[in-house]
Formats: sequence, C-alpha cells, structure tokens
Amino acid sequence: MLFGMNNKASTRPPVLSARNVQKSFVGGDGTRLDILLGIDLDVGSGERIAITGASGTGKSTLLHILGSLDRPSSGQILIDSKAVSELSEDELAEMRNHYVGFVFQFHHLLREFTALENVMMPALIAGVAQSEARDRSRKLLEEVGVIGRESHKPRQLSGGEQQRVAVARALVNQPLVLLADEPSGNLDTQTSQRLHDLIFKLRAGRELSMVVVTHNLDLARRADRVLVLQEGRLELAAKE
Ligand SMILES: Nc1ncnc2c1ncn2[C@@H]1O[C@H](COP(=O)(O)OP(=O)(O)O)[C@@H](O)[C@H]1O
Ligand SMILES: [Mg+2]
Repeated sequence: MLFGMNNKASTRPPVLSARNVQKSFVGGDGTRLDILLGIDLDVGSGERIAITGASGTGKSTLLHILGSLDRPSSGQILIDSKAVSELSEDELAEMRNHYVGFVFQFHHLLREFTALENVMMPALIAGVAQSEARDRSRKLLEEVGVIGRESHKPRQLSGGEQQRVAVARALVNQPLVLLADEPSGNLDTQTSQRLHDLIFKLRAGRELSMVVVTHNLDLARRADRVLVLQEGRLELAAKE
C-alpha cells in the first residue's frame, strides 16, 4: 500500500463529471456555433480546478452546464454519480440548490435586499427554516469577513465585499461544489488577492470541491489542476 496512500480523493467517486459534453448555439442569422466539442471532466472530492482560456471559448457556457443552469446539446453531466438528464425539473432544481454553489463575475446580488437576506435567500428557497437560515448566513458572513454590514444593501458595499457576500450566498446550502466564473475579474489586484485567499480557505472544515474560471495567475497557481479550454476541448495546462 505504498502507492496512493496519500491519495484519498481518488478512492471516492467524483462529485461532478462531464461525459463527452457538446454544446452548440444557433446564432441570430441561423448559423450554428459549435462551442464545446466534447468535454470530459471529473471533479474529485475536495479538488480545486482552475479553467482558463481566451475570451469567447465557452468557459461560462461550460460552467453553466456543469452547474445545470444550462443543458448540453449532447453528452452528460453527473452530480454525485446521478445523471442530471434523468432528473425531472423539480429534482433538478433540488439538485442545484443542494449540490452546487455559484459565484459570478458580477455579484448578481438582489439590490433591494440586505447582505444577510441575500445570503439567506437560497436557503429559504430550499425550504430551510427562517431561524436556521439566519444562523447559517450570519456565520457565513462572519467567515467571509463581512462583519457589521449585515443590513447593508449591495450598493452600500464595496466590490470586494459584494463578492464576499456572493461567496457566502453560494455556500449557504452547503454545496459539494463551488463553481466560480471569474470571481475576481472585476476587482483591483489587492482586493482580488484577498478574495483568492478567502476562496482557498473555504475548504477548511467542509467537503468542498471547486471549479474556478479565471485569467488570474495567482488564483490558477493555487489550484490542484489547471485546465485550458481551447477549440472546444479541455487540455491540461502546461506547467510554467
Ligand atoms: N445563449 C447563447 N446563444 C448564442 N450564442 C451564445 C450563447 N451563449 C454564449 N454564446 C456564444 O458562445 C461563445 C462562448 O461564450 P462564453 O461561454 O460566454 O465564453 P467565455 O466565457 O469563454 O468568454 C461566444 O461566442 C458566445 O457568443
Ligand atoms: Mg465568460
């Protein structure tokens, strides 16, 4: 048992998989755009994957498909070994609520609601009791370092704080996987750095895998695996 002794993740099934995922869009003029040509990916338990690639190559499309916000044209997504395509709309919504947390480039917080309410929202939608949702959300806001700003509306928060609230919101239903689409793409260098520090601390105390789309070398360098999306396929990035 000398080999693999330190490789516990490999003995567990992947939490999220893509099997020959293809995606095409039909443009306004009727021409077909083949964006993803066959994506195979296994996200291991607790694994942190960074995805890079030029603008327009389909990174957001892939992330949306991985998180079942969009469906592939063909191929399959498996979450916790269950094929997403075989789920009903209700089961799919349930799966999305419980297994996947999303962070977008722009925070997408609801502007009329406070930071605390924004974090609580997905928990309430998932049927968590109000008091439990509030407790969890307060703890998360503390963990992401947005303290004393629970009642602030998004516009009363800095860009970095807005993204931290978005991270807290993504975690409120205790997902297996965090999917983040250029989470620091809109922040200055120093604020980005602090957000990356936070993202990489999130695994402590929880079973959390991550797929992060980023152009940021600092963030990519910290991942367990860096993949590049080019010409519709994922390749392992060359080491620097
Ligand atoms: N809903 C859609 N309908 C038509 N084309 C789309 C749609 N979503 C994305 N695309 C096209 O797919 C390509 C990939 O987009 P995207 O996934 O946003 O790339 P990236 O995130 O890598 O910049 C782009 O050419 C974009 O215009
Ligand atoms: Mg994108």
